[in-house]
Amino acid sequence: MSRLVILSNRVADLRKTSQSGGLAVGLADALRQRGGVWFGWDGETLQTQPREATVEQVGNVRMISAAMTVEDYMNYYVGYANSVLWPLFHYRLDLVDFHAPYFDAYQRVNANFAGLVAPYLQDDDLIWVHDYHFIPMANCLRRLGCRQRMGFFLHIPFPPPDLLAASPNHRYLVEALLDYDVLGFQTTADTINFRHYLEEWGVGEVLDERTIRYKGRTIAIDRYPIGIDVETFRDMARNAPDDVRIDSARREKLGRKQIIGVDRLDYSKGLPDRFQAFGKLLAQHPELEKQVTFLQVAPPTREDVNAYSDIRDELEGLTGSINGRFSDFNWTPLRYIHRPVPRETLAALFRASHVGLVTPLRDGMNLVAKEFVAAQDDEDPGVLVLSQFAGAAEDMTEALIVNPYDTDTMAEAIHQALMMPLDERKARHKALLDHILHQDTQRWLATFLNDLETAGGHTNPPP
Ligand code: G6P
Repeated sequence: MSRLVILSNRVADLRKTSQSGGLAVGLADALRQRGGVWFGWDGETLQTQPREATVEQVGNVRMISAAMTVEDYMNYYVGYANSVLWPLFHYRLDLVDFHAPYFDAYQRVNANFAGLVAPYLQDDDLIWVHDYHFIPMANCLRRLGCRQRMGFFLHIPFPPPDLLAASPNHRYLVEALLDYDVLGFQTTADTINFRHYLEEWGVGEVLDERTIRYKGRTIAIDRYPIGIDVETFRDMARNAPDDVRIDSARREKLGRKQIIGVDRLDYSKGLPDRFQAFGKLLAQHPELEKQVTFLQVAPPTREDVNAYSDIRDELEGLTGSINGRFSDFNWTPLRYIHRPVPRETLAALFRASHVGLVTPLRDGMNLVAKEFVAAQDDEDPGVLVLSQFAGAAEDMTEALIVNPYDTDTMAEAIHQALMMPLDERKARHKALLDHILHQDTQRWLATFLNDLETAGGHTNPPP
C-alpha cells in the first residue's frame, strides 16, 4: 500500500486527536494505517522564512511543519486566503479585498512550502492536498519534478463561473486545480460549477460528469461529502460533564427548552440573521417568554481580517438589543459565548438542546449539522433547522430546511421545531442519523483514496 502524504494549512497534533474534530481524527487514522507524512503551517510567524521545516516522528507518521514570515502571514493567510479566496468562494464578492501583493505571497508561500516538503516525498506516495490555501501546491511540486499521484479536496464551496471570474486570477486558480489527478468537492452543485467554468472559459474538455481532459492528461472530478465519526461523537454526547448535567436539570425543572448554535464567528455563518430570527420568534410568540433560551457559541477566528471584527461588533449589538428588550430578572433569552468551548462540552450541550440552528449563508458542508444529529437521544431527539445553502442540505433533507436570508420564515421554522410532536421528531431524526452513518469519515477517506489510487497518476504525462 502506498504511503499517504497530507498537506493542509493547519496540522493537527497527532498525540491529542481525541480533543480535535472528526476530520483530524479521520486523517490521522488513515495516516497511521498507511504510514506517511502530514505537512502544514505550524501557526508561527517569524521575521525571516526558516530554511528548514520542523520534523517529528509520531509512530509511522512524520509530522512536518514550518513557520512563515509576518509579511507572508499578512499577505498570504490574512490576505489572499482569507480576504480573497474565502469570501469569493462563499459568494461574497462585496467582501473580497484584492491586492496584487496578496497573490504574490500566495504563490510564494505555496512554492516555499512545496520546497520544504519535497525532500520527504517518495516516488510511490499518494499526495492529498487540502483546501483553498494550497490550490497551487500540485503545480509547485510538479515544478520540482514530483511525479506522484496528487489529489485535491476543497472543503469550502466552489462558486459559479460568473462569481469566480471576479477574481483577476480565476484562470490561474482553475488551471492550478487541473494539475491534480483527482479533484474532490463537497456537493454536486460544486462539481457542476466547476464543470461550467471549464465550459464557459474554454479550459480543457469535459469528457463526462467525472472526467476532464486537459493538456493530454485525464483528471477525475467528483463529490466526496465529508462526514464525521458518528459513534465517537455519540459517546461523547452521552457522557455529559457535571456542569452541563446540572444546567439541563435546572432547565427541565423550569420547563424551558434550549436552542443551540455553534459556529466559528464567521460572516458566512449567518449569525446576525439567526439572531434576528430569534428576536422575531420572541416578538411573534409572547407565550414563549421564559420557555426558551438560545445558546450561541461563536469562538473567535481570523481576527486580523477586518470583516471578522465587523461581524463581532454587529453580534454584540444584536445580543444587547434582544436581551434588553425581552430579558427578565430570572431569564436571559440569548446567551452568546465568544470563547472556545471544549468538544466534550459541546457534544453534551447538543444532546441537552431541543433545536439545533445551522443557518449559514453559504457553507461547504457544515459538520455541526451532523454532530447535532449524532448527539441526540434517539428516544427524545431534538430538531435540526438547516440552511438550504449549507452543503449538508443536499442530503440531510429531513431537517427543517430554511432560507437563512428570510428571517420571518426562519422564526416560524424554529417555532415549528420547538412544537414538533415526538413521532415526527423521531422519524426525522432516524432518517438523518442513517444518512450521517452512511456518509461518515471512513467512507469519505476510502472513496477519495480509492479514486486517487486508481487515477491517471503515473500514466498522466507531466503537466
Ligand atoms: C474552515 C476551512 C479550514 C480551516 C478552518 C479554520 O473549516 O475549510 O481549512 O482550517 O476553517 O480556519 P483557520 O483560518 O483558523 O485555519
